[in-house]
Order: sequence, then structure tokens, then C-alpha cells
Amino acid sequence: MYQTLLTDLQDGTLVVTINRPDKLNALNKDVIEELGHVIAEVYSNNDIKTAILTGAGEKAFVAGADISEFTSLDAAGGEALAKKGQENVFDKIENCPKPVIAAVNGFALGGGCELAMSCHFRVASENAKFGQPEVNLGLIPGYGGTQRLTQLIGKGKAMELMMTADMIGAEDAKALGLVNHVFPMAELMAETKKIAQKIQTKAPVAVAKVIACVNDAARGEARGFHNEITRFGECFATEDMKEGTSAFLEKRKASFAGK
Ligand code: COA
Repeated sequence: MYQTLLTDLQDGTLVVTINRPDKLNALNKDVIEELGHVIAEVYSNNDIKTAILTGAGEKAFVAGADISEFTSLDAAGGEALAKKGQENVFDKIENCPKPVIAAVNGFALGGGCELAMSCHFRVASENAKFGQPEVNLGLIPGYGGTQRLTQLIGKGKAMELMMTADMIGAEDAKALGLVNHVFPMAELMAETKKIAQKIQTKAPVAVAKVIACVNDAARGEARGFHNEITRFGECFATEDMKEGTSAFLEKRKASFAGK
């Protein structure tokens, strides 16, 4: 159904694999278009509880936006490219009410690092490499990288990485808080799925509200505390909250309907 993506839905977890390994999974127009469609599917398909984004092959997650598509663009074209990508893909992933995890299996450069950062959190293989090398090309990040990298690792480190175009390895990325866990390549997908499956045992409406609240905090949303109070209250109107509290008091495992 997709030309540039592979999708596999098992046990409620949709694994989306960006599949242009000969171009290190670079994000061309087709990939961006199809990522927009697949994320819409994650929102709307009730069978999908969590999603994992990864890249095909053992070399790259995504080595950036497809540089070959840049040569024909003027200022308006560049702005339109960034706007469309941010609105249809990167912001949609970040705001997705279902958890989206990046399983970074190699180079995550430029738009690839930005794609990983738009996910709710990241895990990486030992060979993963992260960077925002746009200044090598006379560019800056355009898919949210200046904002999300600063949110994730702080101003000074973000400035240095984006000014020097340096690449960092998985362990350094972990030390900076850019990735949560580092696994051997052979274990990356199984370990990522384990985390997704663990989240799927939790109350889905509450998990969606965690995503919204943490996004508020990361964005410096002035009404973040207020929104937390409102959403906390909303939880009391859910079947999940009744099930979760009853199950605790009855000393049994909760079974959430996501309502
Ligand atoms: N856009 C378009 N094509 C890309 C690409 C990108 N961002 N990244 C890699 N490719 C292509 C290469 O052109 C090459 O294609 P070819 O075989 O048709 O010549 C293929 O993917 C393999 O890449 P190659 O450069 O030969 O691999 P390498 O192991 O020597 O180097 C990288 C790997 C990641 C260091 C290198 O590909 C690179 O620097 N890529 C660009 C990273 C970047 O600047 N990203 C930000 C874009 S805004």
C-alpha cells in the first residue's frame, strides 16, 4: 500500500519502517507524504495502540531530508517544504495521542534526527549516530530541530551541535538525554516492542493525557499547570479510572477499555 514505507501491525504495535536503504532512508517528498498518511492511520485506527518508527537496513534510521530535492527550491519553496513537513508529519507525531517511539538503528542526521525527536521518546542501537549537519549545506534545521533539540538537551549543547554539525554516538546521545536506552542492534526492535507492550497495559486515555501535558511543559506552555489540573479532572470521568482504582482495591490486574 505504501511505496516508501513498510508497515507491520502486531499485538497493537504498528512498526513503520522507512524503506529507502540505498539512499540511507533520506526523506524525499514521497516519504514525507506517506508518513503523513501513516500517522493519520495511527490516529484513526483503533487496532493501533502504539507505534514504532525505524529505518530499513543496519546503517541508517534516516540520513536527513533528501538533499537532491533542495537544488530547485527558492526561499518560498524552502519555507513551504518545512511548513508542510512540520504540519503534516512532525507536529502530528508529537501530538499523537498514542505513543510513538523512535527505534534509531543507525544514522539519524538532519531531518532524521528531527524525526526521531518528534517521537515521544527514542531508543537506539549501539551504532546510532545523531547530528544536525545542516550548516554544512548552508541551511538550518527546518523540521523543528532548533526547537526540539533545545528542549531535549538544553541550549548550550544544542547550540554547539547545530553550529559545529558534529555527529555524536548513541552513548553520548544517552548521556545528553536525547535517547533513553541503547541496545545492541540485534535486540533493538524486540526491546522497543517490549516498552511499547508495557505501555499498552496502562490506561490509554491517561497515557494520551500524559503526552499532552508533557508536550505543554516542553513547549513552555503558560497554561501547562492549568491544563494538568483540567486533564486530571477529566480522568475521573473515564471508565479506565474506575477500572484502575477498582482493580487496585480488589487486588487484581486492571483491564482497560481505553474509554
Ligand atoms: N539526501 C539524499 N541522498 C542521501 C542523503 C541525503 N540526506 N544521505 C545519503 N544519501 C545517499 C548518498 O547520496 C548515496 O547515494 P548514491 O549511492 O546514489 O551515491 C547513498 O545515500 C549512500 O550514502 P553515502 O554518502 O555513499 O554513504 P557513506 O557511508 O559514505 O556516508 C553519511 C554516510 C550519512 C555520512 C553521508 O551519506 C551523509 O553525510 N549524508 C548526508 C547527511 C546530511 O547532511 N543530512 C542532512 C540533510 S539536511
